Amino acid sequence: MKFGYFDDSKREYIITTPLTPYPWINYLGMQDFLSLISNHAGGYCFYKDARLRRITRFRYNNVPLDMGGRYFYIKDGDDFWSPSWMPTRKDLEFYQCRHGLGYTIITGRRNGIEVEQKFFVPVNENCEIHHLKITNMTNNKKDIKLFSFIEFCLWNALDDMTNFQRNFSTGEVEIEGSVIYHKTEYRERRNHYSFYSVNTPIAGFDTDRDTFLGLYRGFENPVAVEMGKSFNSEAHGWSPIASHMIELSLLPGETTELIFILGYIENEPDKKWLKKGIINKEKAYKMIEKFSKPEDVNAAFEKLKEFWNRLLDKFNVSTGIDKVDRMVNIWNQYQCMVTFNLSRSASYFESGIGRGMGFRDSNQDILGFVHQIPERARERILDLAATQLEDGGAYHQYQPLTKRGNNEIGGNFNDDPLWLILSTVHYIKETGDWTILNEMVPFENNPEKVGTMFEHLKRAFYHVVNNLGPHGLPLIGRADWNDCLNLNAFSTNPDESFQTCDNKDGKTAESVMIAGMFVYVGKEFVKLCEKTGNFELAKDAQKHIDNMKEAILNYGYDGEWFLRAYDYFGNKVGSKECDEGKIFIETQGFCVMAGIGLDDGKAISALDSVKKYLDTEHGIVLVQPAFTEYKIHLGEITSYPPGYKENAAVFCHNNPWIMIAECIVGRGDRAFEYWSKIAPSYREEISDVHKIEPYVYCQMIAGKDAYKPGEAKNSWLTGSAAWNFVAMTQWILGIRPDFDGLLIDPCIPASWEGFKVKRVFRNSVYNIEVKNPNKVSKGVKKVIVDGNEMPSNLIPAFSDGKEHFVQVIMG
Ligand code: BGC
Repeated sequence: MKFGYFDDSKREYIITTPLTPYPWINYLGMQDFLSLISNHAGGYCFYKDARLRRITRFRYNNVPLDMGGRYFYIKDGDDFWSPSWMPTRKDLEFYQCRHGLGYTIITGRRNGIEVEQKFFVPVNENCEIHHLKITNMTNNKKDIKLFSFIEFCLWNALDDMTNFQRNFSTGEVEIEGSVIYHKTEYRERRNHYSFYSVNTPIAGFDTDRDTFLGLYRGFENPVAVEMGKSFNSEAHGWSPIASHMIELSLLPGETTELIFILGYIENEPDKKWLKKGIINKEKAYKMIEKFSKPEDVNAAFEKLKEFWNRLLDKFNVSTGIDKVDRMVNIWNQYQCMVTFNLSRSASYFESGIGRGMGFRDSNQDILGFVHQIPERARERILDLAATQLEDGGAYHQYQPLTKRGNNEIGGNFNDDPLWLILSTVHYIKETGDWTILNEMVPFENNPEKVGTMFEHLKRAFYHVVNNLGPHGLPLIGRADWNDCLNLNAFSTNPDESFQTCDNKDGKTAESVMIAGMFVYVGKEFVKLCEKTGNFELAKDAQKHIDNMKEAILNYGYDGEWFLRAYDYFGNKVGSKECDEGKIFIETQGFCVMAGIGLDDGKAISALDSVKKYLDTEHGIVLVQPAFTEYKIHLGEITSYPPGYKENAAVFCHNNPWIMIAECIVGRGDRAFEYWSKIAPSYREEISDVHKIEPYVYCQMIAGKDAYKPGEAKNSWLTGSAAWNFVAMTQWILGIRPDFDGLLIDPCIPASWEGFKVKRVFRNSVYNIEVKNPNKVSKGVKKVIVDGNEMPSNLIPAFSDGKEHFVQVIMG
């Protein structure tokens, strides 16, 4: 069952009912000012940091669902309703939500009044625009009242929902004309305020929530709206809001437009005040002026569309299969931008107060984003490196506002450092910019402890070498990629987090996953060394990689598949000897990606075991058999009921590792089958089961052991976005940036006749046409570039600002 449809020509998903199985959201903004918006106009916005600088309030996990947003109410005679359906939930004659790239348009109609609400954050601006078009579709004149509504958050979102003894006394606003300013804590250490304006005179306003709503009422029936009258209330403490009341008189067929701006302003410390107690509003005036007319807003909207058109133009495929093209060309790339911007901070599953930027997560996000805006990827890589510890280890997370490592979580997730090498390698392969390696970057943000970026990578590599266990495999530390496989935690206290609790010394528990990753990433590090003339280092690094391969072959293989780990006691994890958790997905992916077992059948056998034991109709589950009881020596993974999260759900993040591995062994049909099983566009048909947005990847889909297999959770902010993009574009389509050019190495279903790709790479446009006359999955017989046959399938980086035509014949 579907709740909408894709409109690829507009790059939109169109939701046709407000009764989606869960709020289906979108993101506005790309840099500093960021917003979440649902198909009911729910959600919130913040400046840079969802925890420390939250602008509007949202109530997570509330009833009814999706509480808090930018709400409009139409008061029409005795009736009142909301064009986004929420919060009044009054029946609409027409409802439509169009989620596009960086904008959302929600239209609602009742009693012949249609309201189109266009929400977007203009490029490089710190505001949300709410552009309303109100049309009288009846044959009679209509006199209506429109109420706006947003609720301010008192900036620090965690404090806002906990520290009521203080917060109920601090709220402050200023009202001037049609603009409501929120200035809580501006009198003290804050130099920022927000405002909500409308470009028309108002007939009234409210800024005190309880006055507007009336006591013991909810957003669905504010007393002000019911009575059709604002109270002109001024908030002092309690909960400041901004609500305008506008009287409208519309002739039959008449449309009127209104522009609301929800803005964020920062003032220099010595320019905070106009006079005592009155804020300096110069910058707000400018912002309001800039978007005061519909033409200005339309122009800003066009600019936003152009921005996305340009960005998406960098990779465009045409396979003739809509479900593939729309994921690759539109939604997967869009999601990669969003995950790059937000890491795992703020979604409808991440509260914005829980996690900062994950070190591992953000490095992986770069893989899917780097071709879009490489300069921003570069900056992010350097920021991440600056939080690295001197011994090469890493803080697991950092706060985006301060860019400092998070002490509460700390480090010791021993896979973390390797991801920094991987992101940097992807960056260099995409851009050819080797100068990044010479950047001077501090350790632990301490300007006195500085090294080149290359030095950072070297220490990341040797952090693994310096932390090996009894089998010569890497010590796992707190956990590896699988945050929930906690082999040293031994937690018995329900009040502590598995991620932060005291750990045992951990000199035994080893991770085969980190081992595979070390070989995979290490090979790239060796190339970096060679290319920069560090030959001795390259040799030494290669020696460690060879040793690691040996260790994996000797101690990391279990007969039919790769083991997952050794626990604290030195016992096998992910082995046929185990009663539960016999086989895990991660090592089958990473060890084959690393090339281990390619020549002796181990790789194929491991992948066939994945097919046999882990593959399901909804994707590949993480582990089998699922754990049915809490095992103290394995940690959080066993805390989940079978089929959920790391305990045998389908993790959309690591399925692509198997797709890539299948491409490496040349099985394009299987790689594509795995890709399509979890691709949102393919799952759209079963949206009632899948439940969450059919246009973006989720972190997990409930596995076969779960109560509701196929039900997805945690959409948007997940490494699934980047990895699925990499698996599809670089391995299945096989258009893969390399140090010295663009490699063309497709691995597709044998039935495909070919495909076309437009790829912008290092300042040249490559128009690639792949033909598959012999119906093979893999193998390139001939490559012709601009009429000349090439010696190999590595196409040079022309870097000449020109278009090039590439013909590829498979066979
Ligand atoms: C985390 C990742 C982790 C994954 C698997 C996600 O929630 O953000 O860092 O690798 O779970 O545990």
